[in-house]
Amino acid sequence: MSLVVVLGMQWGDEGKGKVVDVIAEEADVVARFGGGANAGHTVWVGVEKYVTHILPSGVIRGKIGVLGNGMVIDPRALCQEIQDFAKQGLNLTPENLLLSSGAHIITPAHVLLDGALMQGKIGTTGRGIGPAYADKAARQGLRAGMMRDHKAFREAVRKHVSYQNVSYGLIYERVGFDPDAVVDEYAKFAERLAPYVQDTGKALAQYLSVGKKVLAEGAQGSLIDIDHGTYPFVTSSTTTIGGAFSGLGIGPQHLETIVGVVKAFQTRVGHGPMPTELFGEEAARLRGVKGEPGSEYGSTTGRDRRCGWLDIVLLRYAVRVNSVQELTITKLDVLSGFPHIKICTAYERNGQLYTDIPDGATADELSTFKPVYEDAQGWNENIGAVRSFYALPAPAWSYLRRIEALTDTKIKAVSVGPKRDQMFFV
Ligand code: IMP
Ligand code: MG
Repeated sequence: MSLVVVLGMQWGDEGKGKVVDVIAEEADVVARFGGGANAGHTVWVGVEKYVTHILPSGVIRGKIGVLGNGMVIDPRALCQEIQDFAKQGLNLTPENLLLSSGAHIITPAHVLLDGALMQGKIGTTGRGIGPAYADKAARQGLRAGMMRDHKAFREAVRKHVSYQNVSYGLIYERVGFDPDAVVDEYAKFAERLAPYVQDTGKALAQYLSVGKKVLAEGAQGSLIDIDHGTYPFVTSSTTTIGGAFSGLGIGPQHLETIVGVVKAFQTRVGHGPMPTELFGEEAARLRGVKGEPGSEYGSTTGRDRRCGWLDIVLLRYAVRVNSVQELTITKLDVLSGFPHIKICTAYERNGQLYTDIPDGATADELSTFKPVYEDAQGWNENIGAVRSFYALPAPAWSYLRRIEALTDTKIKAVSVGPKRDQMFFV
């Protein structure tokens, strides 16, 4: 392995954290390239639960963590996460955690704007992600590198808060923040985080040049990519393969493989079209019991996830957009006990069948399609202890083989439960 990129093939929450944790054993460096505290990766090590929002989940393995330039960092949340991990016995120091000088900084003004502007409309996580990326694109963002010059950083934060206060006041007729309070708070964050800041693209290039193995962890999923997702019900970053390179500042020459992580069924948090969405008893069964490992409630916001059958039309799309070479299927165990499983193999609209989305996965288009299902036989056995492909009940491996055939992509690994060892390679 030189560079392995792990990407979500659906709307996020595919179980990437767990998959990354397993693959990370072989890696030297684990890197995040996009998003921020909107992500939530849960990894169970024995009875100990680790949740990462900003940090790459591979740091749980004690690997060197990189927060790439494509990320938007809430310094309060990052300091908190570093502190929480320290309590769990994992010390993240400037020696094993690198923060890109090009990453953008989220402020309370971004969080406020997210709540006012987008949370209701899009169903965002309310973490200030969209407004921070908007400032980045408008060339008025605060970058992590600025934290190294304390005086200049204070000035930049003050200017930012004052500016946002004006626009917030004008648009929403509400008061914003006391610039002095935010400046003082952010000066403290800067003091804590500045030692971690460096040119992470350069560091990654050096690691790769001496044969170190880098694992790039995608956050969110391909279907909420700003360009390729179900716009406008998307996040504000590039969650697909291109984002790994621009968000880390390295080129593709080191790429060894692209792993697409697919949950055995479909889930979505937030608004937007979801052709295979289920309601009632089947949805409740897929969602599981709140609080239990692997149940479908947001690890960032605690919201109920919308659940449905696997959507192959969208999966084929995600495989194509990312040039995915291999799939990892997660949460196959959740399907145990369903007498019949459905697989959406096509869409129907006005009497016409579509096996591909005609023109990208825009929200308007997607909401006009009806799913066409193929029936698959279910199985009753609990498969949490299975550790090889043919030890699965026959209907379960038939289901996997069908996914391979329909996507023309090999399944390389299967996860059958939330624990680290509940996964096997095919
Ligand atoms: P934002 O990323 O907070 O702006 O939210 C935009 C959309 O992406 C909303 O529908 C969120 O629920 C969704 N989203 C963002 N991050 C994740 C994630 O890590 N998993 C699943 N959905 C996410
Ligand atoms: Mg998640």
